[in-house]
Amino acid sequence: MNVLDIAKKRYSVRAYKNKPVEKEKLDKILACAHVAPTAANLQPVKLLVVQDKERLKSIAKAGNIYNAPLAIIVCADHSKAWKRPFDNKQTTDIDAAILTDHMMLQATELGLGAVWVCFFKPDIIKQEFSLPDHLDPVNILAIGYGNDAPAE
Ligand SMILES: Cc1cc2nc3c(=O)[nH]c(=O)nc-3n(C[C@H](O)[C@H](O)[C@H](O)COP(=O)(O)O)c2cc1C
Repeated sequence: MNVLDIAKKRYSVRAYKNKPVEKEKLDKILACAHVAPTAANLQPVKLLVVQDKERLKSIAKAGNIYNAPLAIIVCADHSKAWKRPFDNKQTTDIDAAILTDHMMLQATELGLGAVWVCFFKPDIIKQEFSLPDHLDPVNILAIGYGNDAPAE
């Protein structure tokens, strides 16, 4: 599949089969995140890969991840953030979004479904995962084998 085909195939999956994501597929998804561009190549993004059922429940306390068997919490690392000198704008959210999109498209190419989740309580995630002050969860990518069909 070429990139346009993958982008057209992708849709938000909100129902998942009770089937784990294989390690080889997870590794490819993370490899895509690792090559994503970031401002000044500072790579101010930390990924928390969650597959453990109890830890997935911790995420569900903060927001709906639709019972996906895999969730990647994408965190901005403000200790490494690039700032535009003219107005001090940090680009961490942009960097986090690019990584997330790379992972989402790779998941699609591998026959997996995913949904990008921003509707969650960040303070609960910070507490449940004991995140230090400089890490802020920006979004969560829920991934798994889809159990639905795209809306027409
Ligand atoms: C930044 C962002 C935040 C989103 N947050 C959520 C969310 O919290 N929960 C959810 O179910 N979908 C969320 N989505 C998915 C969008 O609702 C979805 O991408 C959009 O409706 C288009 O549908 P499609 O992905 O099926 O093409 C989010 C998407 C983006 C890009």
